[in-house]
Amino acid sequence: MIDPTARCPKWLIDHIVDSGGSISFYKYMDLVLNDPKNGFYATGRLNIGKNGDFCTSPSLSNDFARLLAIQVVDWFLDLEKSRIDSELFSLVEIGPGEGTLSRDLILAITDLAPSLISKLEVVLVELNVGMQKRQEKVVNDLKGINCRWVNIEDLILRPVTGVVIANEVLDAFPVERLIFCDDMVFRQGVSLKKINHESFLEFVDLKPTSEIIKFLEDSNNLLKIEFPPNDLPKRWVTEWHCDLSSWFKKMSKILINGSLLVVDYAMESKRYYSPMRKNGTLISYKNQQANPNILKDAGLCDLTAHICIESTINYALINGWKFLGETRQGQALLALGLSKFLYSLQNTTSNELSAALNRRESLLRLVDPMGLGEFRWLAFQKDNRNDLIFRNRFLEEPIS
Ligand SMILES: C[S@@+](CC[C@H](N)C(=O)[O-])C[C@H]1O[C@@H](n2cnc3c(N)ncnc32)[C@H](O)[C@@H]1O
Repeated sequence: MIDPTARCPKWLIDHIVDSGGSISFYKYMDLVLNDPKNGFYATGRLNIGKNGDFCTSPSLSNDFARLLAIQVVDWFLDLEKSRIDSELFSLVEIGPGEGTLSRDLILAITDLAPSLISKLEVVLVELNVGMQKRQEKVVNDLKGINCRWVNIEDLILRPVTGVVIANEVLDAFPVERLIFCDDMVFRQGVSLKKINHESFLEFVDLKPTSEIIKFLEDSNNLLKIEFPPNDLPKRWVTEWHCDLSSWFKKMSKILINGSLLVVDYAMESKRYYSPMRKNGTLISYKNQQANPNILKDAGLCDLTAHICIESTINYALINGWKFLGETRQGQALLALGLSKFLYSLQNTTSNELSAALNRRESLLRLVDPMGLGEFRWLAFQKDNRNDLIFRNRFLEEPIS
């Protein structure tokens, strides 16, 4: 059945027609987000924040960065103590969005560990020119610290030592959608249907690629569950983050020594691949509205898919990373001292009341188990001498 809201824009019709009448869902997701002329990110149409399309943790206030900075400083100081051979440490952010996280981290590190600042540079890895332009306006405000934008391939040629952060980026990677129907597996595709001279997008079932077949063969080991699970409904759709393995490989080549923190929408494989989750985790976002109709407004909204915790960790392990641990964001931020921030609001004077209430609301949103608090923090280490010891404060018991 055709969805009347899934009108296909002209530029996308051309792509689909040039590709023989259909494209994979993977290609569709890549195009609607990253097509240089029309993609939601590439054009810089995405707006992150309370008045934008959706909120991320750093867009709520600088408290997320101030708490995360406590962990980031620990990691930098551990690197310093270990006397590794590097005069410069890099704070690398992948997919920096509006650029606020890097800026606020540097401001917080300046307060927490001023002696570190002269040794630091900021390295931003952004796929989309439209977003980079927005980041430049925010990050260039930082005085006395070198900030540079690089692509991953260039960074691989000149790897760095430091801390890499990827907050809400992996969920934006294009995914393959897999369809299990009557004991058969298909790759989801997207094609066109013409009604009264107008073209609409519709899903089609395509033949699985050899990569998908390989994923299915490896899946039990990768996901640590029976896959596909038993008792599937007649038609069951799920996702495979097919770019994650090569991404971890590239990440391991950009970093000589240091840590990588991934923060994202994530679920254990048992929940992710539950027979009850009949349509996977993909969702679109626009103007703070989530919408399960992922063919609507192609190129004008965000698309996001959760990551699977077990497969993410396994892809990291097979690509040279050591796993440090994972926890929910709510737990991580409490371990880093969020309750102290809340407690300090008790000393608010009456003319600061409104600002204090806003700050309190933002702090609570960061740990809300129905929202950002449910995000997962997964940390990894790269260590070319095999003797680095990191304090992972975010995994410790929360400070009361
Ligand atoms: C959902 S936004 C997250 C923004 C930011 N990290 C935050 O928390 O506010 C995703 C960002 O990642 C960028 N991006 C998407 N895929 C990327 C990739 N493969 N490498 C680098 N950046 C990417 C997008 O252009 C966008 O800036």
